[in-house]
Amino acid sequence: MPETEVVQRGLEDVVALESRICFIDGRQGRLIYRGYDIRELAEHSSFEEVAYLMWYGRLPTRAQLAELQNLLVSLRVLPKPVVELIERIPPESNPMEVLRTVVSAMALSEPGETKPGASSISGALRLTAALPTILGQFHRRRAHLPPLAPRPDLSHAGYLLYALLNREGTELEVRALDVALILHADHELNASTFAARITASTLSDLYSAITSAIGTLKGPLHGGANEQVMKLLDEIGTVDRVEAITQAKLAKHERIMGFGHRVYKVEDPRATILRRWSHKVGEAKQDLHYYDLLVRLQEVVHREKNLYPNVDLFSGSIYTQLGIPHDLFTPIFAVSRITGWTAHVLEEYDDLRLIRPKALYVGPTDLTYTEIGTRS
Ligand code: CMC
Repeated sequence: MPETEVVQRGLEDVVALESRICFIDGRQGRLIYRGYDIRELAEHSSFEEVAYLMWYGRLPTRAQLAELQNLLVSLRVLPKPVVELIERIPPESNPMEVLRTVVSAMALSEPGETKPGASSISGALRLTAALPTILGQFHRRRAHLPPLAPRPDLSHAGYLLYALLNREGTELEVRALDVALILHADHELNASTFAARITASTLSDLYSAITSAIGTLKGPLHGGANEQVMKLLDEIGTVDRVEAITQAKLAKHERIMGFGHRVYKVEDPRATILRRWSHKVGEAKQDLHYYDLLVRLQEVVHREKNLYPNVDLFSGSIYTQLGIPHDLFTPIFAVSRITGWTAHVLEEYDDLRLIRPKALYVGPTDLTYTEIGTRS
């Protein structure tokens, strides 16, 4: 074995491929989708516009956007076998496991679409449109309520809120969710996107790639930190307890969720935008309880550890104030990231190279086989 082989644990800092989809400037705290700064996108665009940008590489004209919106709306209705599958899922199931299983089953209803290649754009549309309906139907099933008929008159964010809560959100609530969806749409070669690209690089189909991605996002080191942030805030309770509880956790070398990032060395730009939205939503609800706790927590963690907030610090407070249960936070991440995942899968098909790294073998090589009866 050559002595020069070096293991990059976790593939840290390894540049695995070229991409035109997303750029993270970790030192300046910038995140760029297809050339556009997310601060501009979060200010001026909609999730549907960002989805178009992800898939086609350019912002849509009015007509192109309208066409995409119509397509997404028309695909909100699930195939009958998929509806029946959701009805048979045990109500206590983990929503990410439900999403993974149902997305995989969606392929069975679209056999023609599972061929890899540029035609996979129709699969990307179908899955993006379907995820709010899948989540909404499962969420109602576990409350022993009948499924809601999809609403064609609502935007993607508005429909997601309706599908989960059986109510129309206010303009501010829908825009808060829309912005959160825009901000989660892509993040370069994160673990779930890499998993999707590995699957696509074997010339497997889009549905298989997205099933891999959902399984990868499910892990608490990837999705799910915002849920933990809300648990911490509920444990803390009041602003005057932030200091002591945070100090105690840091003294025990516990990690404070929602802080730190492998790539950003300054504040995650998504956190900056979501902090503003956490305040806006709190103000509208006349309840800044979570916002005040988060701002105090941010001060203490920065002072003690020089760590900055990441995307997960403020998103959970927004979802909670909209009335969304904590175990749907990671699935909402998937509702947004499906656009980035599918864009990466399409890019992989366009510039295909089997992703197959190597391992440094550190086990023995010279053992002698012994008959089964002679082994101890
Ligand atoms: N709380 C307390 N200490 C921390 C934290 C934290 N959140 N993050 C890093 N540190 C400390 C860590 O203990 C270590 O200290 P020391 O050198 O004294 O041992 C030092 O900072 C470096 O830690 P690291 O794990 O080597 O840093 P990393 O850049 O590899 O970790 C991270 C990145 C996101 C895994 C980590 O910051 C973390 O665990 N954060 C909490 C979980 C979280 O919020 N995850 C969401 C990430 S954003 C999602 C996305 O972008 O998709």
